[in-house]
Amino acid sequence: MNQKQRYILLVFSIVVILHIVFVHTHEEYGHAFSISNVVSRVKGNHSEQAAMAITITNPTTGTVPIATATSTSGSILAPEITADTTSTPPPLATSEESNYRSANATFVMLARNNEIEGVIQSISEVELRFNKKFRYPYVFLNDEPFSEEFKSRVSELTKAKIEFGLIPGEDWHQPDWIDEDLAKQGRDKLVADDVIYGGSVSYRNMCRFNSGFFFNQKLLQKYRWYWRVEPSVHFYCNVDNDPFLYMEQHNKTYGFTISLFEFEKTIPTLWGHVKDFMLQHPEYVARDNSMGFLSEDGGENYNLCHFWSNFEIADMDFWRGTAYTKFFEYLDSQGGFYYERWGDAPVHSIAAALLLPKDKIHFFKEIGYFHHPFTHCPSGKLYLDGKCSCQIGLNFDYQGYSCLRKWDRIYLT
Ligand SMILES: *[C@@H]1O[C@H](CO)[C@@H](O)[C@H](O)[C@H]1NC(C)=O
Ligand SMILES: *[C@@H]1O[C@H](CO)[C@@H](O)[C@H](O)[C@H]1NC(C)=O
Ligand SMILES: *[C@@H]1O[C@H](CO)[C@@H](O)[C@H](O)[C@H]1NC(C)=O
Repeated sequence: MNQKQRYILLVFSIVVILHIVFVHTHEEYGHAFSISNVVSRVKGNHSEQAAMAITITNPTTGTVPIATATSTSGSILAPEITADTTSTPPPLATSEESNYRSANATFVMLARNNEIEGVIQSISEVELRFNKKFRYPYVFLNDEPFSEEFKSRVSELTKAKIEFGLIPGEDWHQPDWIDEDLAKQGRDKLVADDVIYGGSVSYRNMCRFNSGFFFNQKLLQKYRWYWRVEPSVHFYCNVDNDPFLYMEQHNKTYGFTISLFEFEKTIPTLWGHVKDFMLQHPEYVARDNSMGFLSEDGGENYNLCHFWSNFEIADMDFWRGTAYTKFFEYLDSQGGFYYERWGDAPVHSIAAALLLPKDKIHFFKEIGYFHHPFTHCPSGKLYLDGKCSCQIGLNFDYQGYSCLRKWDRIYLT
C-alpha cells in the first residue's frame, strides 16, 4: 500500500469505529441512521409543498435539519397566491421520529409590499428564536397582490411552508351600509383630536378585518392555532417550548404578552354596545370570566384594559365559534369600526375576557417581545434560560400604562 491508500484506510477505519461506538452508546444516533427511518422520511408523502428534511436527532437540542431534499412539486420558493385545498399542514411528527409533536398551527402576518424590511426583521427573529427548530408554516395576507420581490425575499428566510394570500375586497373594504358622511365626521373628529390613525380608512379596514375576517380566510381555514406576527417587531428570547402545544395541552384559548389601556376617544360607544350584547345574550357570557380585568366596578364602566393584539397566540376555532361570531356581528352592525375607530385589540380582548373562563387566557411571560413603543422583557430565570437580549429596565409589565396589574389581580387570586 502506498501512502495515500494507507491514509484512506485509516480515515475509513476511524469512521467505521466511531459509527459502531455511537450506534451502541447513543440510542438516538442509531435510530436516526437506521435505513428504514431515513427511507420513511424521504418517502413521506404528507405534504408535497413542505420542504422535506432528513434530520438527525440530537438528544439535547431536539431535531436539527441537516439536509433538505428537493420537493417533487417544484420549489417552495414560488408558492401560489390562491389557496390550494389539497395541501395539508406539515406532517405531525410521531414520538418515534422525535420527541417533538407539532400542533395544527401557523404564523399569520398581514403585510404590505412596502413593509418588506420590517417583515424580514420580524421573520428572521421568529426563525432564529423559535421556528428554525419547529418549522411551523406561514400565511401572509395582503389586500393587494404580493409582489414577486416580496415573495422571494420572504421565502429566503425559512425552510417552512409559506403561503401568500389576497384578501377578498368584501372582507376588507368599508361596507356599503356604512353612512360615509357619518364616517367622515368621525374621522375628522379624531384627526382634530390628534388621535393616531384618526383619519385613516385603511387602518379601520384592517381593524375590522382582524376582528372578524382573518380566521376565515381560505389559507387559514385548515389551521386551528395561529401566532400573529407584525412587521418590525422583535423577539428577544429563545422559545424552546412550543407555545402552541402549551395552549393545546393546557386547554388555553388566547395568549398574550403585553396588555395596556386603549385610547378612549377611539371607542366612546364600544362598551355600551358590549353591555347591550351581554344583556341580549347572557348565554354566551362565561361564568368565571375576566370582567375584573376589564372593569373596576363589576362591568358598569370599561377601564380600557386590553391585550395588545399585534402579538397573539390563539385558537381560531374560538373566533369561528357561535359566541364570538354573534359578538362580532353585533358590534359590526353598530358601525363603530368606521364611525369611531374600534381596534381589533379591544374587540378581541373584551370577547376573550367575557366569553371565556379566565383560565383559558394565558400570559406568555417567557416570550420577550417588542412592538413600538413597548417591550415585554422576561426577568430572572426566564431571562437567562431564554438567552434574552432585551434590556430588563425597559420592561413595560408594571409601568403606568400597562394593565398587567389588573390581570394579576384576577389571575393570581
Ligand atoms: C401516502 O401515505 C399514505 C399513508 O402514509 C398512504 O396510505 C398512501 O398510499 C400514500 N400515497 C402515495 C401516493 O404514496
Ligand atoms: C386543523 O384545524 C382545523 C380547524 O379546526 C380543522 O379544520 C382541521 O381539520 C385540523 N387539521 C388537522 C390535521 O387536525
Ligand atoms: C383539558 O380539557 C380536557 C377536556 O375538557 C380535560 O379532559 C383535561 O383534563 C384538561 N386538561 C387540563 C390540563 O386542564
